[in-house]
Amino acid sequence: MKTTIQNVGQFVGQEVVIEGWLWNKRSSGKIQFLQLRDGTGFIQGVVVKAEVPAEVFETSDRLTQESSVRVKGVVRADHRAPSGFELTVTDVELVALATEYPITPKEHGVDFLLDHRHLWIRSPRQRSILKIRAEIIKAIRSYLDGNGFVQVDSPILTPSSCEGTTNLFQTKYFDEDAYLTQSGQLYMEAAAMALGRVYSFGPTFRAEKSKTRRHLIEFWMIEPEMAYCTHEENMVIQEGLVQHIVRHVLENCKLELKMIERDTKPLENVISGPFPRITYDDAVKLLQEKGHDFPWGEDFGAPDETEIVQHFERPVFIEKFPAKIKAFYMQPDPNRPEVVLGADLLAPEGYGEIIGGSQRIHDPELLQERFAEHELGDAYNWYMDLRKYGTVPHSGFGIGLERTIAWICGLDHVRETIPFPRLLNRIYP
Ligand code: 4AD
Ligand code: MG
Repeated sequence: MKTTIQNVGQFVGQEVVIEGWLWNKRSSGKIQFLQLRDGTGFIQGVVVKAEVPAEVFETSDRLTQESSVRVKGVVRADHRAPSGFELTVTDVELVALATEYPITPKEHGVDFLLDHRHLWIRSPRQRSILKIRAEIIKAIRSYLDGNGFVQVDSPILTPSSCEGTTNLFQTKYFDEDAYLTQSGQLYMEAAAMALGRVYSFGPTFRAEKSKTRRHLIEFWMIEPEMAYCTHEENMVIQEGLVQHIVRHVLENCKLELKMIERDTKPLENVISGPFPRITYDDAVKLLQEKGHDFPWGEDFGAPDETEIVQHFERPVFIEKFPAKIKAFYMQPDPNRPEVVLGADLLAPEGYGEIIGGSQRIHDPELLQERFAEHELGDAYNWYMDLRKYGTVPHSGFGIGLERTIAWICGLDHVRETIPFPRLLNRIYP
């Protein structure tokens, strides 16, 4: 009976066939321990010389790391095994013998691993992270789909920028200049006026010139946008979404979290209550009280964010940033127009901003003023139309998928959160 490693539990005491690869092997001469993987999981196969035909033991003996094999064996429950099961091997069919595999169980440098990313993703740790990534995507979709949002795709080739021009990825669109999208937001604002609650889910591009643990050149963003929605209501949705993601991962990725040795205590805290909210002013005061020379009006850097979140055990909203350091479309606070009705959500444990969001300017005159200040040209005419024809207060946000994964998995760097990372000076493989 052919099955997969994740399903062997249904076949205890029976003979099954597993199609997969050998990722490691130990041998004591009379007995071989085959560490097998098939994509769905990992299991140990035990080959006892005295109990199998000589040619089976010989084949098993020749297997190199990453050789592809069809292994037949009897499933046994074993509480010591991470998966809870072991295979007593009865037959081994070699599909292809792998030549010397470059990624051995010993330590390798990061550049070497990134050069071999196409193989590195086979390792238990990388595989677990990619599995958790898929579950996080599932959780995001199920939360939004379940809360009345309609998915709307935004274009990747665009004539204009959304988040300023410093990190635009320029390309040609026949004879015109074009840019790879930095954010689908402006298009989602149009879609929200057509469908009410919408979200886009796609790759976004930023030519970030700095090398950090948090920046990718190509990353995935989910951007919900809601008509008739205030800044306050926007934060309620964000909190609900993030709690749903964490709950889903804790329930559905137990094995993977264990495999990557993620301490789940801090994640349990996240779902135990509401997220604190502080203003930008409070955050600046907090930094100053801690002895940092931080002037009001500056944007926070990674070390500042890390300092701020240390004082909270759940993600924290920082709201009402100075308008000067935020994007042109953010709605000013009516009581204090120098700050905006927007918030960044900072993840705990020093992972920094995972969400940026705001209420958008809906007043046509104010938006026209901002256009003039930011010297935005004809490429934005259609965006201005949204304020001419039935403009309403509306809000939205963007959650960065890779930053969210890095935090939930407790990773040092976002490069491990995406199958094939695009980094400063790296587009291979
Ligand atoms: O704060 P950002 O720039 O916001 C926007 O783009 C808005 N237009 C979103 C919206 O309101 N619809 O980016 C949103 C999130 C950040 O909080 C971060 O998680 C992620 O996108 N992000 C990056 N992730 C990886 N690498 C990068 N270079 C990133 N830049 C932003
Ligand atoms: Mg931001």
